[in-house]
Amino acid sequence: MKKVFLYGLFSMSLLVSYGQSKQTPVYLDDSQSMEARIEDALSHMTLEEKIAMIHAQSNFTTPGVPRLGIPEIMMTDGPHGVNKELEWNSWNSAGWTNDAATAFPAMTCLAATWNPEISLRYGQAIGEEARYRKKDVLLGPALNIYRTPANGRNFEYMGEDPFLIAQMVPAYVKGVQQNGVAACIKHFALNNQETWRGHIDVEVSDRALYEIYLPGFKAGVLEGNAWAVMGSYNKYRGQWCTHNKRLNNDILKGEWQFDGVLISDWGSTHDTDEAALNGLDIEMGTWTDGLTTGEKFAFNRYYLADPYLKKIQDGTLPISSLDDKVRRILRLNLRTNMNRNKPYGSFTSPEHYKVAREVAEQGIVLLKNEKNFFPIPEGRYNKIVVIGENATRKLSTGGGSSTVKVSREITPLEGLIEKYGADKIRYTMGYGSGPLSYGFAHPSPYNADSLKREALALAKDADVVLYIGGLNKNFNQDCESGDRLSYSLPFGQDELIEDLLKVNKNMGIILISGNGVAMPWINKVPALMQSWYLGSETGSATANVISGQANPSGRLPFSIPKRWEDNGAMSFGTISYPGDSIRQVYMEDILVGYRWHDTKKIPALFPFGYGLSYTTFDYGKASADQKEYNENDVITVSVSLSNKGAKSGAEVVQIYASQHNPSLPRPVKELKGFKKVFLTPGETKTVKIAIPVKQLAYYDDNTHEWIVEKDKFTLHCASSSTDIKSSITIRIN
Ligand code: BGC
Repeated sequence: MKKVFLYGLFSMSLLVSYGQSKQTPVYLDDSQSMEARIEDALSHMTLEEKIAMIHAQSNFTTPGVPRLGIPEIMMTDGPHGVNKELEWNSWNSAGWTNDAATAFPAMTCLAATWNPEISLRYGQAIGEEARYRKKDVLLGPALNIYRTPANGRNFEYMGEDPFLIAQMVPAYVKGVQQNGVAACIKHFALNNQETWRGHIDVEVSDRALYEIYLPGFKAGVLEGNAWAVMGSYNKYRGQWCTHNKRLNNDILKGEWQFDGVLISDWGSTHDTDEAALNGLDIEMGTWTDGLTTGEKFAFNRYYLADPYLKKIQDGTLPISSLDDKVRRILRLNLRTNMNRNKPYGSFTSPEHYKVAREVAEQGIVLLKNEKNFFPIPEGRYNKIVVIGENATRKLSTGGGSSTVKVSREITPLEGLIEKYGADKIRYTMGYGSGPLSYGFAHPSPYNADSLKREALALAKDADVVLYIGGLNKNFNQDCESGDRLSYSLPFGQDELIEDLLKVNKNMGIILISGNGVAMPWINKVPALMQSWYLGSETGSATANVISGQANPSGRLPFSIPKRWEDNGAMSFGTISYPGDSIRQVYMEDILVGYRWHDTKKIPALFPFGYGLSYTTFDYGKASADQKEYNENDVITVSVSLSNKGAKSGAEVVQIYASQHNPSLPRPVKELKGFKKVFLTPGETKTVKIAIPVKQLAYYDDNTHEWIVEKDKFTLHCASSSTDIKSSITIRIN
């Protein structure tokens, strides 16, 4: 009897457990809340499975939990196109033939559009490509501040102004994430130079940190809802940013309540305890202890691998922080590869090329245009001479991790031939750079004199000369892991330009770069365009803008100083930039970019926000909807804008604010609103720009608060940071 009873109990418990295991585990059940699914999955995992999830298993992936059907996380660079497939555990191409992607314009160009709507389309398109290629995390957008024109990675970033960046980034992030692909905003934070990026210790005031260096990230997290953030290589307050307590625990996960994953930059992790406790969720790319030979199981020696496992097992480190990391990674899984409703994505579609071309056309900045040199309509000239290596160089490749293996890339020369006809175009290089390299600069293999001679001979008899030069993506130019060594154009281009102007004054310059350059010849040249690394549609967009089929509407996302030392950070010498190899001090503090030029009365050669059009715009007098406001109000500035020319075009109406009597020093003025407005010939629109009063705050680093003071403020309605059309004074109560 007793036996039977026991047997009965046993069989009942078997039944219960059998019954449970037949049920769908909660983490697989879409109808459950995400947090319930996360807790359920976590409860099924062993310690070893948890540890495996938080570090790389290959160059660009982390393992999931195969036993539980939780997939691997596939990452890719970013931010201008989906990178080619790489070998599992190396930087070599895997040699696939179906991975050539659309190259979108570099981030500088996107910022130069001043158009959040097109930023959304950019994000959607690159997100579709990432999803099609089965990637779960796109390592972009990149948004470090353009602090100096020396930074080799400025082309990957979005200029010098935190407000502009904060308007552009959320749209990109949302566009990417609509595809079930996480955007990973990078590099958090203060990675504003490549020189000594792996260890330079940045000293910056809290005001500059909060007012200048963090707003783009904050907007990406709070408005874009970014699912991933990448920590940076450098140090801040003596601690590596990737496991920096203040940046990660206090600000990102504390103040901003970020619920996504913080991923290390590749090889930016240096310590197990700090990585465990200071907010790092996934360790990527570290050749721990200098294991550069590619040992098969080196991943186990990552700081967040075996060393962390041991410290949890022996009780030195708590399991709670590991569980927090795993929860975040599971959340990432559920948002990306475990989201059954995600779209399929698409790749190299006509729509993607269209987005790439439109961003490029809207980003090119017309800087000078005497006597309507541009546009050059078809049929105006019979002999167009194109000079400059960048006319034929495919520049989507190179520059470091943002390189894109392109499905197609139309060069400027090809675009011009397509537009004007092969019989009208003559081309010569004029100058030549060295082959593409990473980590060192090849000298040019060309004979500069003979290249120049040929160019002068061709230019002499030309109806018009189009000079297409600038920087390229070679080391010490616009390239990761090294900064520029000089503000001048490389490969003798300044002398070449001067000499060309001596034989033919009818010359327009198109500079391709991600950085401002010195322009000693600027007064002699009638016309100049600032172009960027434009990606797949470089040639078509360039030719469309040159010919007038597209009307340029880009505005500079950074100031171009006359001299390198006119830049705030550069003006303080080596302690400010690049530092003494151990530490650097951001001496210019909050006066970055135009804030410096304005406040110190050192005019830039071309100011932030500047750019011309083929049409002209008339501004009415701006007005505000009230005279006085309270802290929670929104100010609406209205201004009428008319297109007075014969071409459709777009103007970027910019609102800068100045406080009359601030308790702390403030820049002369700061961008607080803008709108890109498209107008047909003769059309007039009333442009309305909303500015929450809270935007007028400064960050008080004594009280650690954003403060809007009771004071008068002047709102300048402007077409660049120096071209003010009208001003309104309001009072904040
Ligand atoms: C770069 C990151 C990039 C990563 C992976 C690092 O060197 O700083 O921006 O995403 O490599 O390629």
